[in-house]
This record gives sequence, structure tokens and C-alpha cells, in this order.
Amino acid sequence: MKAKKVSALLLSAALAVSVLAGCGGGRGTEEAAAPAADSTEAADAADTAEAAPVEDAAEESAEAPAAGGGVIGVALPWLGTQNWAEAEVMFKEQLEAAGYEPIIQAADQKVPQQQQQIESMIENGAKVIVVGPVDGSQLGSVLEKAKDAGVYVIGYDRLLENTTGVDGVVQFGSVKTGELQAEALLQGLKDLKGEAPYNIELFGGGPADPNAPNFFTGAMSVLQPLIDDGTLVVVSGQTDFTQCATVDWDNAKAQSRMDAILAGNYSDIEIDGVLSPNDGIARAIITSCENAGQPIPVVSGLDAENESVEWVWSGRQYSTVAKPTNALVAETVSIIDSILSGNGMPATDVTANNGVIDVPVYELPPVVVTKDNAKEVFADDPDRLALLKD
Ligand code: BGC
Repeated sequence: MKAKKVSALLLSAALAVSVLAGCGGGRGTEEAAAPAADSTEAADAADTAEAAPVEDAAEESAEAPAAGGGVIGVALPWLGTQNWAEAEVMFKEQLEAAGYEPIIQAADQKVPQQQQQIESMIENGAKVIVVGPVDGSQLGSVLEKAKDAGVYVIGYDRLLENTTGVDGVVQFGSVKTGELQAEALLQGLKDLKGEAPYNIELFGGGPADPNAPNFFTGAMSVLQPLIDDGTLVVVSGQTDFTQCATVDWDNAKAQSRMDAILAGNYSDIEIDGVLSPNDGIARAIITSCENAGQPIPVVSGLDAENESVEWVWSGRQYSTVAKPTNALVAETVSIIDSILSGNGMPATDVTANNGVIDVPVYELPPVVVTKDNAKEVFADDPDRLALLKD
């Protein structure tokens, strides 16, 4: 679902109504107030695709005006990729630094476990619950329950679908992410694989994650015209999201699919490139190609995981996309501060329809990373910078 712009006036009015209509817990305790400007800037920044000021954002949240503390729930889908493991640590650090009492739980990709975790956060008096859903469309009733209890709900990194029990979502532009992945793939093909046509394959993420179809849609908006004109040849013929998706973002499943595609289609030809939705899947694809004796194809990625940053630097993986967890957590904490200091949800002119309502979106810009710009992108990230060893 692509985010669309709405009139700031209408949105402020809608937010004022939702703030006034709340009761108990977090929702009923504050008055409607003039929306803050921060998130509009974040949405504007998303259009320019500049690197997010990671450190500044973190400092900003630590210095935010006291919002009276309280319990904040954070429900994460799993800890299987670096971004979610970082989120667990950074939410604890940043929420505690801002004077809150965090309850942070991860659901190991299991919907019932995540429903129970959210239930218990409500029971434990959470004023705000931050949710990265396992399945974007399966939390409707527990989130309605949170709403009825007066708890604010913020989607983190992934949209919360088919529910009115969501007040906003904080994320990196998901369609934009897919566009960046496809553009990097094309650039790498031109730079490393000679003249077109190029033999490629396509991979998508976990179908329950609302980001995955968005990443794929963004990528296909760039790739489809070149598939149509013969510049790109998807040798397996598998171009639908359902054929390309990787259940549960499971790297092993992606590696098996790549093994089968290579065995069935590439015994006497070379594969030039692969669209990969994230870094773990990228490394699985590259490993499969290496095992099959193929030259390494140009492969995209996402998350700037440490291992993939090293692979990009050594030339084994062509690109990744940075979406700094630090900045996304800081943006979330600043929204929590706004709510709990009585200012309601900050203003934003971006929304995404979740099937039931238009959800306010606080969007940060993803940034593509190749060997050429890695030092620049990670200039303020000493941990990743240290991985770029000459
Ligand atoms: C996140 C990615 C992550 C993937 C698998 C997506 O929703 O945006 O950063 O790689 O989930 O965990």
C-alpha cells in the first residue's frame, strides 16, 4: 500500500478528534494540542533520500521534555535479523534514558505468542504499545482491545492492517526501499556484467509482513519495463510475488529455492543478478550460487547487517540498503514523548490506508549502500565504519 498525502488540516482535525475521543490509560489523559513539526520534517526528508541523522535523532529523544514516565510495551516480531535485535537493545536504552519503564518482548514469528504478549502489556498498564507485527493483519482484535483500554498503539517498521486500533506507524519508506534495491541491481549489472541482456532471478520477503509486497512492488516498478523490453530475462519465469516470496523471511528457504532454480535453469548459462529483499536472504542466494560453481551475481540487500557490510566491502554482495534502527527507535520515542506530554500524535502529511483507516505515517529515508559510498553512509556509525577495512 503506497503512502499518500492528505491535507495537514484534515489530519490535525482527525487527530484532535481521536485524542478527545480517548478514555483512560494513555489516550484520555491529555488534551488536544497543536501538533509538533518534527515528523513532517521526517516525511519531507524521506523524499530527498538523504541519510538520516542517526546520532542527532538519538540525542533529541534523550533531551525531550519529561513526559511523566510510565510503562511502554514494545512487541517485536522476532530477533532473526540484525535490525530487530538492535531494536530490542535500543528501545531499552532509549526508553529508560527518557524515563520510561519498558516491557520488551519478541514473538519468534508466532502470531498467538505476539497476541498474548500484547494482552499482557495491556494488563501491565502500558500507556503506549509499540508493535512490529509478525503478521500485519492478524492483530486486529487485540489492538482494538488496547484502543478500548485507552492505550496508544504505534506500528514500528511494519504497518498494522485491518484494524482501527492503531494511531500511527513509524517506518522507512517501504516502496522506496524496493525501488532502491532494483536501481542498485541495475547499476551493478551495468558495472560488472557487460552488455544486456542479463539473466536475473527475483526474491521477495515474508508474505505476512506488509513490507514484503511493498518492497517487491517498488522493485518491480523499476524492473518490469526492462523485463518487458528484453533487457532483463527472468530465466525461471517466476515473476509473481507469491512465487518469489520467502515464508517467514527464512534464509534457508531462500537458499533452497535458489538451489532449485539454478539446478533447473542454469546448468549451461550464467546468472548475472538477483533481486534480494534483505541481507540474510542475499547471503543465502550468494552462497547457493557459489556452491553451484556460478560466478557471483550482482545481489541487492537490506538492513546493512554487519556481515553484509563486510561482504559489500569485499565485493561479495553488490549492495545493501541502510535503515538505521537507532533513528527509527529515536523517532518512535519522540512520538511517545509527544503523546505522554499531552501533545497527542505529531502532525504528518503522509498516511497509509490499512484496509480500514488511513494511518498517519512517520517516514524516514532508506539509503542505498555500495562499496562506492559505504564510508560516506556510515560516517556517523563507528561500528559499521570499523568493518570497512582496507
Ligand atoms: C524489515 C527488514 C527485515 C525483515 C525481516 C522487515 O519488515 O523492514 O528490515 O530484514 O523484516 O526481519
